[in-house]
Amino acid sequence: MSKIKFQTLTGMHDVLPEDQIYFKRIQKSIEGIANYYTFQKIETPIVEMADVFTKSIGEETDIVGKEMYVFKTKGGDNACLRPEGTAPVMRSYLEHGMHNLPQPVKLWYEGPFFRYERPQAGRYRQFHQFGFEAIGEKNPSIDGQIIQMSYDVLKELGFKNIKIQVNSIGDSECRPYFRKILTSYLRSRKSSLCADCQKRLKDNPLRILDCKEEKCQQVKAGAPQTIDHLCESCHSHFKQVLEFLDELELPYELNPYLVRGLDYYTKTVFEIVDMSDFGQSQGTLIGGGRYDGLARMLGGRDTPACGAAGGIERIMGLMKEREMKVGSKQEEPQIFLAQLGQLAKRKSLKLFEEFRSAKIPVAESFTKDSLKSQMRSADKMGAKWVLIFGQKEALEEFITLRDMESGEQKEIKLDKVVEEMKEKLKQLKDGKKDKKLSKS
Ligand code: HAM
Repeated sequence: MSKIKFQTLTGMHDVLPEDQIYFKRIQKSIEGIANYYTFQKIETPIVEMADVFTKSIGEETDIVGKEMYVFKTKGGDNACLRPEGTAPVMRSYLEHGMHNLPQPVKLWYEGPFFRYERPQAGRYRQFHQFGFEAIGEKNPSIDGQIIQMSYDVLKELGFKNIKIQVNSIGDSECRPYFRKILTSYLRSRKSSLCADCQKRLKDNPLRILDCKEEKCQQVKAGAPQTIDHLCESCHSHFKQVLEFLDELELPYELNPYLVRGLDYYTKTVFEIVDMSDFGQSQGTLIGGGRYDGLARMLGGRDTPACGAAGGIERIMGLMKEREMKVGSKQEEPQIFLAQLGQLAKRKSLKLFEEFRSAKIPVAESFTKDSLKSQMRSADKMGAKWVLIFGQKEALEEFITLRDMESGEQKEIKLDKVVEEMKEKLKQLKDGKKDKKLSKS
């Protein structure tokens, strides 16, 4: 056999039919929770001006510095494929004057995002994220609500071993001072840092706290911590967030080294991780925080906001690995429509449409001409009834109904067939219910 010529690009992947059930389950959970907390859906374009991200996530971050798919459009615009959803949602909030609406404006989204990362398990170059963003409210209860919603999504999907890590990274008032003392500490240990962190020292020293390299872990252990250097307002905000989390009885722990990789964050940052049997993190499933400075970075006026986003593939990967329940597969049709001859084929297309309007699932095999092979398909999928539409039936406007279990056959007038099958399905359902009741 010749080698397959075309494959997905590195880091890209197909969401195959067998994965759809997981996608749907996760989407259902997200949408249900978003609706409950009165978040409204928003869709922003996949292609944005690159500056929406360079001005907000920060040019020195990995996402913007290394991972963005940037290109010039034919019209000369400097565009990119969106690497995340928060900056575009804020762009949209500002562009559409949403500050005139009652605040906070609560929005949620879901869709594909792109980062040119080194692919590995749970890390793709095109992946799907969902996110919740509450814009226009500085009250710490919003931080609590966003964390609660994020936790709820995973809990509802059946995750048992999840932990919320939380920290406060201060704001424009207290962070410059913290940055100064952190830089001075790190500079004195520069030679003990990994090569990347030595570079980060100049432009993004906070990120060093997040580095997973063994070398840097040791340096980090003695580093100053953000929460010891918060200004009065950040301190009080963080205290209230933790009080909310206590009240909600959420399983959180303080992680003084959590800083997150995007420049727009202020005050609260959090991540939800799944812990393996050995207490090791299996990667971040959902991450987020407050971003009171983002609106201004994008040219708007100061607007407090808080949000979170989760990776659908990452969640799905763990659900598959752990064989977590996703509910039953799409209901298999109980009825199979078989046809024989041109006239019957034409008429059965119409009948099939009538079943669809009546919301009755019916399987068919219009591409097959042999009745025998259609009966084989019906048998294989476990259909309870087969409707046989042959030449004689088509001419005389009736259909033959065959009960696959008993082998019995009867004729039904064509204009009564949908109604009769509806009744049969109802009886079948009622029978199943009675059986369940008598068992319990
Ligand atoms: P993030 O931490 O960069 O935050 O991404 C959020 C989640 O997206 C991660 O926790 C992970 O599950 C998933 N994710 C990120 N990169 C990849 C990848 N390459 N492959 C698969 N999954 C990935 C943000 O994007 C912020 N916008 C979150 C936020 C919303 N903050 C406030 N509001």
